[in-house]
Amino acid sequence: MRAANGKRLYIQEVSVRDGFQIEPIFISTARKVELINALSRTGLAKIEVTSFTSPIAIPALADAETVMRQIERVAGVEYTALVPNLRGCERALACGVDEVNLVMSASQTHNMANLRMTCEASLLQFAQIVALVAGKVAINVSLSTAFGCPFDGAVPASRVFELVDRCVAMGVGRLTLCDTTGVANPAQVAHLCDAVRTRWPQVVFTAHFHNTRSMGLANALAALDGGIDRFDASLGGLGGCPFAPGASGNVCTEDMVHMFEAMGYDTGVRLNDMLDIARQLPAIVGHEVPGQVMKAGLSSRLYPKPGGLGSGKDQQRLAGQGAAVALDPASTYHGSTP
Ligand code: COA
Ligand code: ZN
Repeated sequence: MRAANGKRLYIQEVSVRDGFQIEPIFISTARKVELINALSRTGLAKIEVTSFTSPIAIPALADAETVMRQIERVAGVEYTALVPNLRGCERALACGVDEVNLVMSASQTHNMANLRMTCEASLLQFAQIVALVAGKVAINVSLSTAFGCPFDGAVPASRVFELVDRCVAMGVGRLTLCDTTGVANPAQVAHLCDAVRTRWPQVVFTAHFHNTRSMGLANALAALDGGIDRFDASLGGLGGCPFAPGASGNVCTEDMVHMFEAMGYDTGVRLNDMLDIARQLPAIVGHEVPGQVMKAGLSSRLYPKPGGLGSGKDQQRLAGQGAAVALDPASTYHGSTP
């Protein structure tokens, strides 16, 4: 593992898009705006605000225009939105996004299931979008199922290289490798990330992992080892693609920030502020969320020492260890340690 030395990493929040798109209840527009406004003040590099997809395909984000227009933009935060086609791009541009995040899958069947078009048709739309956008805003391409597909199985690295190459040739300078259904493993991630970084050093790559099989944070570390410094993550660990069977939450933002910061990286995120917001999530979505640090507290959290340790015998044992700890003999020990 490389030494952290305060190296800057960039955390990109996707809960309000990847998370809310799969929630069974419609989160009100006001709630979405309130949440994005709060997230904007935590030090995140980017927020994926919504998606300009068909409201029939993704009813949970049917309020994309209103959300995008009502949020308060904070300087230094990039506001992006998912865009599946030309129509979506026009809608996103009309709302003043900073970036359009084009989406297609590396595998044919998931692209058909998700976007109702072939991969070639997606690439054709991308070329039209690049021409339409023409330097107005940034363009990112998110490659879903880049590490494997729930329908077609393994996705060879050569397929990812081919698609990255096609996008770069069009003029795309930002790409996200997405593990849509949490099938990637750390060895595969380190290898693929290192390979794309070496082949296209001029491209800004992001890693996007789902924690479906508990490999999310391990994969984030593997991506870091492969030279990636930008990570998508989702508050509370919400997330999932409605058109991918078995899909579940993204890597949890506050858990990821906690890990990176504990290792000595600088994420720019104020973790306690992020945790305060995360703790409001269960009330917003109506169920528990997978995030761990919001429940356990920071790894630096200390509990009161068990009071019953003050007996004369304990003092003798500590003295025998050479410890100069004064225990309070008056306090009582009420059970097992928390
Ligand atoms: N925004 C809003 N409406 C859109 C749209 C967009 N970006 N693209 C198409 N539509 C509308 C069309 O105008 C048409 O409306 P009409 O029936 O009233 O005329 C209707 O949707 C069907 O259009 P069509 O081009 O045939 O689209 P489709 O049914 O083949 O669906 C997508 C294609 C891409 C729009 C749809 O599959 C989609 O939105 N998928 C999103 C998937 C997603 O976000 N997945 C999770 C993230 S990975
Ligand atoms: Zn995702």
